[in-house]
Amino acid sequence: MGLVIAVDGPAASGKGTLARRIARELGLRYLDTGALYRAVARDVLQKGLALEDEAAAVAAAQNLDLNSLGDPALRDQRVGAAASKVAQMPSVRAALLQLQRRYARDPKGAVLDGRDIGTVVCPDAPVKLFVTAAPEIRAKRRLAELRARNIPARYEDILAEIKSRDQRDENRASSPLKPAEDAYLLNTTNLDIEETYQAAMTYIMSITGPSGCTS
Ligand code: DC
Repeated sequence: MGLVIAVDGPAASGKGTLARRIARELGLRYLDTGALYRAVARDVLQKGLALEDEAAAVAAAQNLDLNSLGDPALRDQRVGAAASKVAQMPSVRAALLQLQRRYARDPKGAVLDGRDIGTVVCPDAPVKLFVTAAPEIRAKRRLAELRARNIPARYEDILAEIKSRDQRDENRASSPLKPAEDAYLLNTTNLDIEETYQAAMTYIMSITGPSGCTS
C-alpha cells in the first residue's frame, strides 16, 4: 500500500488547499471526501426531495457519480449546509465508507481530507493532520475567498454558518469531527497558507523521511 495521509478539520479551515498541495508535492492522489457528502446533498436537492429523506440520501450515496465531483454547484453554501445534514445519517456514511477506503488502498498512495479520515476511514494512516483555526479567522478567510470570486457575502452570515456547521459536525453521534489521538494538531489561526504548508511538510518528513516513504 502507498503512503496514506489523513487531513481532517472543520469547515473553512484550509484543509482542502493544504491537502491538495501536499498531494501534488508528494505525487499522491487526492480525494476531497467533503465533496462526496456535498454530491449526495446536491442529488437529493436536485430531485426536489427532503434532506431528511434517509432512503433518498442513501440511494444518492450508492449511485454517486465520481466524475461529477468537480461540479461548481457543490461549492454552494446551501449545498455545504445540506451536506452537513445528510452526513449525520449513519447509513449515508456507511454507503460512502467503502468507496473512500478503496481509494486509500490504491498502491499509488493518497491524501484524503474530511472530518473522520484519521478516526474512522483510515485509522491506520501513518500521517494524520488535524487542521483548525478560530471560527472568526475561518469566516474572514471564507469571506475574502468569496469576494475574490465576486460572490456577495456578509461576514456575520458566514460566521453563523460556520458555527452551526461546527456544532453539527462535532456533535453528531456517527463519526463526529474530532482529532485522532495520534493526529498532529495544526492550528493555523496565526499562520498563512505558506507557513501552514511548511509546518505540515516538516511534520510529514519527520514521519516518512525525505523520500516520502514510511518503510
Ligand atoms: O469539507 P466540506 O465543507 O466540503 O464538507 C461538507 C460537509 O460534509 C461537512 O459539513 C461534514 C460532511 N463531511 C463529513 O461528515 N465527513 C467527511 N469525511 C467529510 C465531510
